[in-house]
Amino acid sequence: MLKLSTDVAAPAVLSALDAIYERRSVRSYLPKTVDRRLIGNLLDAAVQAPTAVNESPWAFAVVQDRKALKRLSDKALQLLQPGAGARSFALPDNVFYDAGTLIVIYGKPLGPFVAADCWLAAENLMLAARAVGLGTCVIGLATAALNTPEWKAELKASSDLTAYVPIIVGVPSGQEPPARRRPPEVLAWKAGLSV
Ligand SMILES: Cc1cc2nc3c(=O)[nH]c(=O)nc-3n(C[C@H](O)[C@H](O)[C@H](O)COP(=O)(O)O)c2cc1C
Repeated sequence: MLKLSTDVAAPAVLSALDAIYERRSVRSYLPKTVDRRLIGNLLDAAVQAPTAVNESPWAFAVVQDRKALKRLSDKALQLLQPGAGARSFALPDNVFYDAGTLIVIYGKPLGPFVAADCWLAAENLMLAARAVGLGTCVIGLATAALNTPEWKAELKASSDLTAYVPIIVGVPSGQEPPARRRPPEVLAWKAGLSV
């Protein structure tokens, strides 16, 4: 059943396959804030993900306060070790690219598959966002800052939670170029006689 609807200028809700093939990391956004109902729909799509023994070990924080996002970005940049390995990319001034919404997916300490569950929820969320015309990007650069005691306290995450996936969400300001991917590397394909 289709649960998502949007008031952004999406031509239509994409099929699952179109969303998979058309999702790209978006790093340029219009200065609009995605409304709460739509963010709620994305969270609902996230929690439909497969989860080990149906544990659903996730919890979410949503940040739509631009001053807080700037403070968090500054903290993320501050925590990056200067000179710790050559970087193949230039650091942005704002690790959130001025997106108006950050969704953080936290994992509860409930077993060995918590990180996997959180990442599956993240992909659901990003595909659902793409399907309704929103852009997203995982911001791994913000993970260390989000796991500091001060930011856990600010976002009401108890100390036993781990921030696994920070995702920015917004209305894209343009179109991203198509993905460049290598074809799948298949190591083995052991087929029986009937194939
Ligand atoms: C674990 C992870 C961390 C990432 N961290 C960042 C980040 O901090 N900043 C950023 O701009 N993109 C980040 N990305 C996005 C990747 O750069 C992007 O997915 C990759 O270049 C492939 O492009 P595509 O998403 O458009 O297919 C991250 C992606 C993943 C999966």
